[in-house]
Amino acid sequence: MIPLAVTTSAKKDAELERDARAVARRWGLPFLPRKPKEGIAPWLGTKAAALLVVGGDGVTLWEPEGTFGFHAGMAHLRRMRFREGARDDAFVRSAELRPGDSVLDCTLGLGQDALMASLAVGPTGRVVGLEKSPALCVVAGEGLRRYPRGDDSCAIDVQNVDAHAYLKTQPSGAFDVVFFDPMFAKPKKAQPAFEVLRRFADHSPLTPEALEEGRRVARRWVVVKGAKHSDDLQKLGLTPEPGSRYTDVIWGRVAAR
Ligand SMILES: C[S@@+](CC[C@H](N)C(=O)[O-])C[C@H]1O[C@@H](n2cnc3c(N)ncnc32)[C@H](O)[C@@H]1O
Repeated sequence: MIPLAVTTSAKKDAELERDARAVARRWGLPFLPRKPKEGIAPWLGTKAAALLVVGGDGVTLWEPEGTFGFHAGMAHLRRMRFREGARDDAFVRSAELRPGDSVLDCTLGLGQDALMASLAVGPTGRVVGLEKSPALCVVAGEGLRRYPRGDDSCAIDVQNVDAHAYLKTQPSGAFDVVFFDPMFAKPKKAQPAFEVLRRFADHSPLTPEALEEGRRVARRWVVVKGAKHSDDLQKLGLTPEPGSRYTDVIWGRVAAR
């Protein structure tokens, strides 16, 4: 059985099929043509373990337990606030992102922090987002491609790779800021989209070796997002900055090497 394949939604036309074939090519995935009005539920677990369905509203991941598509979630609001002049976004503040910066997001997920970075660094900046899970990477990559980010944000270069492996290929000081937001060891209540993400996500913790590679590849610093209820950051030798008492998130930062 194919682990992951691309197809079209039931309401397809020639343009949508071209679009879906392009998605399959971009990510090196097989394309399964669909007959008009053919249901795809019977394909799940027989033809493919999971399917990426390209429709008029973007790419949706289908798996036996449910479906999910890209949405910018809180990033939409965070970007609105930033555009209104607010400078209190915790990620932008911890990373001290400035126009023209280059950012390596080692844990892209749904790309919410990457979307924030793309606005904070602006059109002259650079954001590369790495995602290890092929299914999440395509949903996020295609979602970000279609997201109306505006002229004030740079594009996000999405790559389906393991962050540690990617870091090893990079020269020292290749990015101003390297960012890690690994999955929390003990999940607390999260936005619904993150519950779906959790099933497909890579749950391995950030290792001291990957953090050190991050410090080599960073020009200014490495920023790590963690959970208030765990000591993951402290175990990596990071001192969390006091965050807002209204969130479960804490931030750590370590200087480049
Ligand atoms: C908590 S989520 C990140 C959420 C993200 N900051 C956002 O704003 O949407 C962590 C993501 O990193 C991915 N991930 C974990 N380890 C990784 C690795 N070594 N390389 C690339 N991606 C990784 C997981 O699959 C998951 O999608």
